[in-house]
Amino acid sequence: MSYLLYGAYGYTGRLIAHRAVEQGHQPILSGRNPEALRPLADELGLSHRPVDLSEAGRLRAVLDEVDAVLHCAGPFADTAAPMVAACLDTGTHYLDITGELDVFSALARRDREAKAAGVVLLPGVGFDVVPTDCMAAALHKRMPSATTLEIAFMSTGGWSTGTLKTAVGQLGKGGLVRRDGRLVSVPPGWTSRTVDFGDHPRTVVSIPWGDLVTAAHSTGIPNITTYTYLPHLGRRLLRASRHVQPLLGAAPVQTLLRRLVGWLEAGPSPEARRQGHSVVWASVRNPDGDRHSARLQGPEAYTLTARTAVAAVGHVLDGGTAPGYQTPATAFGPSFVLDIEGVTQ
Ligand SMILES: NC(=O)c1ccc[n+]([C@@H]2O[C@H](COP(=O)([O-])OP(=O)(O)OC[C@H]3O[C@@H](n4cnc5c(N)ncnc54)[C@H](OP(=O)(O)O)[C@@H]3O)[C@@H](O)[C@H]2O)c1
Repeated sequence: MSYLLYGAYGYTGRLIAHRAVEQGHQPILSGRNPEALRPLADELGLSHRPVDLSEAGRLRAVLDEVDAVLHCAGPFADTAAPMVAACLDTGTHYLDITGELDVFSALARRDREAKAAGVVLLPGVGFDVVPTDCMAAALHKRMPSATTLEIAFMSTGGWSTGTLKTAVGQLGKGGLVRRDGRLVSVPPGWTSRTVDFGDHPRTVVSIPWGDLVTAAHSTGIPNITTYTYLPHLGRRLLRASRHVQPLLGAAPVQTLLRRLVGWLEAGPSPEARRQGHSVVWASVRNPDGDRHSARLQGPEAYTLTARTAVAAVGHVLDGGTAPGYQTPATAFGPSFVLDIEGVTQ
């Protein structure tokens, strides 16, 4: 059983490649730039297959060699569609580390095709959305009558340029929440609340996060709000962005912002990753006002992503994951995250 790790030489792809080898996996490394791919493959003693996503025939030939792909090249708004199409054509299971809401929605719409092709479509096997999805499913199991779900997260240690470029692509789209089963547009940072992440109460602000799609799929809960911790200035800037929302989405502004992000460090240093951590909190409520809340601690977002992504692809290759569109919790059950090294309740 083998898999292709696409986007292997990106910041997160490299972490995943190293984690995979630590876990005894031997993925074939892939990406569009042969010059970047070869040294990493040599360092890890792995095979490599350079391929651009626009090379439809070659992509299918490469996928014919493997049982699954772990797709790590984002923004996934640009990269998921050609890879998913090739996976459906070749009967290759698809996993990715997206956190992009539109990508989750687009893949959910391909559920029937994936079932017909016998293919698992499992996006979001990173920090977004493994811990939050598993918590949402666990809380829903505890309270099947829940109609409202709130999820909040924080991660210290910093962000990769890839994550920031992906976030830039979301600017100008405004906020979203799920109400009565539907995604509803709201202004950026439209609501906030206080959450106890285990140290002291912190103010979290609403942001449109992948769980608005994935947790709805995993639990069927019709009202969902997702939040993150931002310091005071960050919250003010997020709220102020509503006044320039159309401008932020304009092509020249997007290009400029992506260029500025490109000047930053590729991602958190090994030291920052070692010192960082993440906390996820979730709460469900039913119409009677009963509540259940839970909290998970873990490594910072990139370390956790490498661990969850490698564990997820390992499970899919072991067999037993039902074909079709899946979330981490529907694929492996709510306790999947608890088996990940460094995650505690
Ligand atoms: N779910 C989570 O919690 C989580 C965690 C970490 C990262 N992510 C997401 O994963 C993505 C990658 O993050 P990163 O930190 O690894 O970023 P990165 O260091 O910028 O790496 C991005 C990778 O994607 C490749 N790529 C970009 N566009 C491509 C395209 N059109 N065709 C083929 N390859 C393409 C890049 O190749 P080139 O160098 O050749 O352009 C590079 O290998 C981002 O979207 C990020 O938001 C999600």
